[in-house]
Amino acid sequence: MKFSVALVCVKKKIMTGYNGGKQKIGKKIAQVMRDYVAGDPTPYLAYVEPFVGMMGVFRHVISGDFALSVPSFIAGDINESVIKMWTEARDGLFIPPNECSLETYLEVKEARAPSALRGFIGHQVTFRNQYFGGFEGLYLNPPRDVLYFKSASNRVIDIATSLRNAPVHLYHSKKGYDDPVFTTLGGVKNNIIYCDPPYRGRSSFYFDEHNNRRSFDSLKFWKWCDSLATRGNLVFVSEYSPPPDGVASDASASPVAFLEEVWSNGKEKLFVLDDVSRRNRPN
Ligand SMILES: C[S@@+](CC[C@H](N)C(=O)[O-])C[C@H]1O[C@@H](n2cnc3c(N)ncnc32)[C@H](O)[C@@H]1O
Repeated sequence: MKFSVALVCVKKKIMTGYNGGKQKIGKKIAQVMRDYVAGDPTPYLAYVEPFVGMMGVFRHVISGDFALSVPSFIAGDINESVIKMWTEARDGLFIPPNECSLETYLEVKEARAPSALRGFIGHQVTFRNQYFGGFEGLYLNPPRDVLYFKSASNRVIDIATSLRNAPVHLYHSKKGYDDPVFTTLGGVKNNIIYCDPPYRGRSSFYFDEHNNRRSFDSLKFWKWCDSLATRGNLVFVSEYSPPPDGVASDASASPVAFLEEVWSNGKEKLFVLDDVSRRNRPN
């Protein structure tokens, strides 16, 4: 199944802050996934997003024009602060600020303890989309020591509101995406899984707060995706490049699981791993 789409440019607007790379194209990705399952008789149990970050895609999957009709939505991330931010914002315990000074940024960064504010500030005023990668104001010309981002904090409040109105489970996965909770909450099969992992060769853009390091093993990740597809899940992956060599030849991978590119914005692609035995739909 192929989809033709217009080129979508993603240009960062500094003064509205960083909300995650999927804020502009998240809706399109949700639409592609919704179209892909349209007419599919599979009784899907859950939509699972283990790399949920700032919810650029998730927000469109749980409500709005392209919402998926499944009994349960599971959102997780290895970053405890980002999950605290969503949980507390949903429960009315955290109201995101509209501005941040350099002093506050440094205080929150140094505090290290996971918190909702840390999740918000770490993404919101960060240089080059890196989590706490530097106070963005310092890189402006002229440099500023306060940044304002009302629209971004409103967006977090909006998403938090929709989290209250859908059957959503938020989960901090200490060990990461392969935490069994992601599939056992839904069921071992018949889940729709969307992954937006740190991109291959660019993982320095992501900071693993729990393990205090920047790293991501792409081969291990793709093998995990392959095994989920083989068990009867529908797996979508946003990436720049296809899986590294070694995934297809993995002894545990079934030959019926395969990879297809369904969407590309010129750089980033959406891959789907689907199992031929589930696939009776015409091309
Ligand atoms: C590309 S971002 C996801 C962006 C998200 N789609 C958005 O709209 O903001 C990748 C996310 O994966 C998380 N992450 C990195 N390594 C992970 C791992 N091993 N397991 C689970 N999450 C991980 C990061 O904390 C980050 O939030």
